Amino acid sequence: MLKMNEEKFLNDVFLTLKKYIQETSSTDTVSPQSSIEELKKILPNLEKNGISLEETHKELEEILSQSVRTIHPLFLNQLFGGFDVAAWSGEVASTLLNPTMATREIAPILTLIEKRLVKELLTLMGFESGEGIMVTGGSNSNLLSILCARSHYNPAIRQTGFSHNHFRIYVSEDAHYSFDKAVNITGIGTQNLIQVPSNPQGEMIPEELERIIATDIKDGFTPLMVGATFGTTVLGSFDPVEKISAICEHFKVWLHVDAAWGGGAVFSKSARHLTRGIELADSVTFDAHKTMGAPLITSFFLTKHTGILRSTNRGGGSEYLFHEFDNSDWDTGTYSLQCGRRADALKMWLLWRSQGTEGLIARTEHLLELSRFAAHEIALHPGFELIHAHYLNVCFQVKPLRIKENINSFTLKVRKELIASGKAMVNYAERADGTIFFRLVFPNHLTKKEHVSELLKIISETSALLEQNSISSEPLH
Ligand SMILES: Cc1ncc(COP(=O)(O)O)c(C=O)c1O
Repeated sequence: MLKMNEEKFLNDVFLTLKKYIQETSSTDTVSPQSSIEELKKILPNLEKNGISLEETHKELEEILSQSVRTIHPLFLNQLFGGFDVAAWSGEVASTLLNPTMATREIAPILTLIEKRLVKELLTLMGFESGEGIMVTGGSNSNLLSILCARSHYNPAIRQTGFSHNHFRIYVSEDAHYSFDKAVNITGIGTQNLIQVPSNPQGEMIPEELERIIATDIKDGFTPLMVGATFGTTVLGSFDPVEKISAICEHFKVWLHVDAAWGGGAVFSKSARHLTRGIELADSVTFDAHKTMGAPLITSFFLTKHTGILRSTNRGGGSEYLFHEFDNSDWDTGTYSLQCGRRADALKMWLLWRSQGTEGLIARTEHLLELSRFAAHEIALHPGFELIHAHYLNVCFQVKPLRIKENINSFTLKVRKELIASGKAMVNYAERADGTIFFRLVFPNHLTKKEHVSELLKIISETSALLEQNSISSEPLH
C-alpha cells in the first residue's frame, strides 16, 4: 500500500517525533520566541502545487520547533500537560483506525473499551449504576449536564422546545466559564446562570445557594440545575457537595459536579476525601487529560440515570446508520451529541492498562506531593507571597523587595518576562478584588521536585533582575 517515498517519509516522521519527545526533557526552552510577524514569514502560503514529502517532513520539523512544548516538565500553564507513551500510542492508533464511535458495527472493540472505562469510572465515583459517554471536552460535558437536567425535568422539551424560558442554573463565582457557553447554547441565557457567592477559599456558600433558589422560586423561576465544582480552575477549590446535595434534593434540582480537574482526586489516597459526596451527584464531568497524562481530549460525562442520555439526545439516523443495534446501548451514537465521534477511549484504555489503577494513584500522589512541596517552598521564600494553595493549585505573588512597586503589577511584569524567556510557562489569574497572582498548577507527572525548585529560582532571578533594571534606570539626584 505504501510507496517507497511514503515509507521513507513515515520513518523520518517517526524519528523526528521520537527525537522531539527525547530532547524535550533536556532542553530549557518550553515556548518558542518568534513573534506572529516572524511566524508569518516562516510559514509559506498555501499554493496551487503541492510540495514533496521530503519538504513536508522539513516543514513538520519547523512547525515542531515553533510550537509550545506542552510535554515539558516546566509547562505548568494549563490544566493538562506531560506525556505518556502508552496513551500517546493509543491516540496515534485511534487516528489511524479512524472509526466513528457512533455504531458498534464500525467500532466493535472500541465500543466495548469505552463501556468498560465508563463502568470503572462510575464505580470510582460511587455510582451503583448509571451510564456515560466520552465527549469532546469538559466544557461539552457540562453542556450535556444541562441538557440531561432539562430532559429529566421534562422529556417533552426535546420536542417542543420552550417558548417561555423560566429556567435558572446555579454555579459558584469560581466555576468554569464553560457554563456560560452552555446556557447560551441551550437557550437558557447567560442572565439565568446565577453565580452563587464563594467564600474566601473559593467554595460555593451553600446558605447563599439555598437563599437564592428560594427567592427564585417565589419569583416564578424554575431552578433546573446546580453545577458544583470539584477543583476550581484557579484556586483548585472543592464545593461542599454534601450540603449542596441536600439543597438540591429539597428543591428537586439536578446536581451536576464539574470534576474536570478535581476528579483526579478519586485516583488518590491522600486527597480522596476531597471528593466526598460525589456519589450524590446526578452527573459528573471528568477529564483524564487534566491529571492522568492522557493527551487532549480524554473527557467523560457520567450519570447515575440510566437511559437519560438516549432520552436527551436521541433522534434520526435509524434509516441509514443504526440498524442491527438500533435502540440498543451498543450504538452509542444514539445517545451522543454528535454523529462522528473519535475513539478517545483507546488512549485512556492503554494508559490505564499500562499503569494499572495503582500506577494512576501513584501518579496522582506524585502531583499532590509536588503541589505541597511548591506551597511549602513559596511560603518560606522572602520574595514570594503565598495567596492560596489547595489540591494541585498554588497561587502566589512576587514581592518587590528593593523597589516601591505595587505587588500586582510587579507580579504581572515578572510573568511577562518569564514567558518572554521561554524557560517555563505558568499562567496568572486575577480575582474579583483585583489581586493578580501566578496560578501554578501540577497536571504534569513528568515534573519533579527539582523542576519546581528550578522554576522558583528562575522566577526569583527574574524578579531580582527587574528590580535591578528599575533601580539602574532611576535618574541620579
Ligand atoms: C473546572 C473546569 N471545568 C471544565 C473545564 C473545561 O474542560 P475542557 O478544556 O476539557 O473543555 C475546565 C478547563 O480547564 C475546568 O478547569
